[in-house]
Order: sequence, then structure tokens, then C-alpha cells
Amino acid sequence: PIRVLRTVDAVRKWRKPHMLDHRLVGLVPTMGALHEGHLSLIRAAARETHHVVVSIYVNPAQFGIKEDLSSYPVTWESDCKILAGLDRELADDGGNLGRISAVFAPTTSEMYPSGFPGQEIGSKGSFVVLTPISELLEGGTRPTFFRGVATVCMKLFNIVQPEKVYFGQKDVQQTVVIRKMVKDFMLPTEVIVGPTSREPDGLALSSRNVYLGDRRRKVATVLHRALEAAETQYLNGALDRESILQAANAVAADTLKEQMGLTPENRVTYEVDYISLADPSTMEELKEVDPKAGGILSGAVKM
Ligand code: PAJ
Repeated sequence: PIRVLRTVDAVRKWRKPHMLDHRLVGLVPTMGALHEGHLSLIRAAARETHHVVVSIYVNPAQFGIKEDLSSYPVTWESDCKILAGLDRELADDGGNLGRISAVFAPTTSEMYPSGFPGQEIGSKGSFVVLTPISELLEGGTRPTFFRGVATVCMKLFNIVQPEKVYFGQKDVQQTVVIRKMVKDFMLPTEVIVGPTSREPDGLALSSRNVYLGDRRRKVATVLHRALEAAETQYLNGALDRESILQAANAVAADTLKEQMGLTPENRVTYEVDYISLADPSTMEELKEVDPKAGGILSGAVKM
């Protein structure tokens, strides 16, 4: 069975011999409610490191006061079963360097030893803050989100001391924040970003998709279709913001128009929070893509 570690001390004790043996440790931070997106990161970690640590911790610091902290899905028993199943699969596959060695599932008093500082903007406490990237895009509607993410990831990296950490491209701004934190604080770890796992119709897998319900679930593919339309423009040679984003905005507008043609009880409406074409290292909006550096297309739609 996979070892479950609950305390910082337990992880340090587990970690030390691997350090002395020069064994590579890979960390996959999660908030649980595991799905194939998480598993794809764990598979990548097992290919490249000897000991994979999966952390499962619903970090209150990255939830706003009005957000879904109390209703965020907690599925500990099934998460453990899923990890045990995946670990057997990893053992059978000769191409792997390692397996799942431990699950780190701490309590909030373990993670915030001075007391949990709170979720508000002015909270007093110890935080890792990256500006202005944390105020952009996702940070616009969720002002303390990236402060919470960077702070908990700094703690996890210091506890586990992984050679490599694995993040999903689904949360692309999070990957840029983490890369920047690792660079600016000289953290001795390598950030690996895995591709987005999607449902057959294109919707990105997410623990929060259960909130959508059937009707909105079907229309939610609008985000992926809009981003793909923009990407197609770029792949066809467009480099300027207008022509790339216009394609995405057209998909969002056309899909909404289709919905407005339905009766009110069958209709799904939404607002586009943003569709962004951004610099891959700062998340600042681009007027034009430099093909050498590329750009990040991302979006948020509120249903
Ligand atoms: P969580 O939403 O549980 O996601 C954990 C990791 O899985 C993140 O790196 C996320 O980008 C990745 N992931 C989620 N859905 C994915 C998908 N469909 N395809 C590929 N990867 C996917 O992100 C967090 O937790 C938290 O912010 C965390 C980093 C754990 C800090 O608390």
C-alpha cells in the first residue's frame, strides 16, 4: 500500500535516505478529487523520477471568502483507491523509473503552523506574492488566489524538496506563476508542465465540472472551441492580436446566439470573463505574437 504521510516531520524522515541515495523525487501537488488529468501528471512523474509524492490538500488560502471551499469535492477514499490502481499500473510498465511512494495529506494546522492567516486581501501573515502576474486574468476575479497557490506550493516544495514538480497546462496561469516563483526564489526544482486532459468533446477535465449540471456541461465546450479557433488563426500565419482573438470571440458570440434561439428553460447563457493572448513568461497581453517566444491563449467563461 502507498504510504500516507500527514506531517512535515514524517515527510522529512521519509525524504532523507532518498536524498543520500541520489534518488529523484517528483512532486504532483493536487487538491484531491482525482481524475485523469491528475493521473497523467503522476504518470509523467513516474517516468522521470524514482519516488513520486502526490500531495492532497484543499488549500484554504487560495479560495476567496465567497468561493467554494466548503463544497469543494473531498473524495479521500476513492482517491486512495485510484492511486493504488495507478501504482499497480506503473509497476507493470517497464518504462517507468519510479512509482507512487507516498501521499502527503496534511491538516491545515500542519501547513499553517502560525495559524491560518485568512483569505482576505489585507490578511496579516506570511505569503509568497508575485506581482503583477497575480493580479492579471484569473487574479482579476480572484484577488488572493495566486497568493494562496504560490504560498502553499512554496511550503510543499520546502517540505518534499522534489527534484521535479508537475503541473497541468489546464491551469496555465498557475504554471507561469510557479515557474516565476521557482526562478525568482532560486528554488532547486524543475517545473514540468503536462498537457490538458480533455473529455471526448473537448471540455478540460476538472474536479469542478460536477458543478455544471447536464445542460451547462454541454455548452461548456464553447471555451475549448473558442480557443481552438484562435489557435487555428495563429497556425495559419496570423500573428496580430486582433485577427487571432477575433476568431475566438466569434465562436463565443455565435454559440450564445444559438442559445438565445432556444426557449428560456432550455437556454444556457454565459458571460465571457476574458479571452487572452498573453506573453508566456509574464501573462501580460500581447499586441503581436513573436513566433520564437509564442503566446498563451487562455480564457474564462462564467455560466
Ligand atoms: P488541482 O485543481 O487539484 O490540480 C492539481 C494539478 O492537476 C494542477 O497542476 C492542475 O493544473 C492539474 N490538472 C487539473 N486538471 C487537469 C487536466 N484536465 N489536464 C491536465 N492537468 C490537470 O491546481 C491545483 O489543484 C492547486 O492550485 C494546487 C497546485 C494543488 C495548489 O493548491
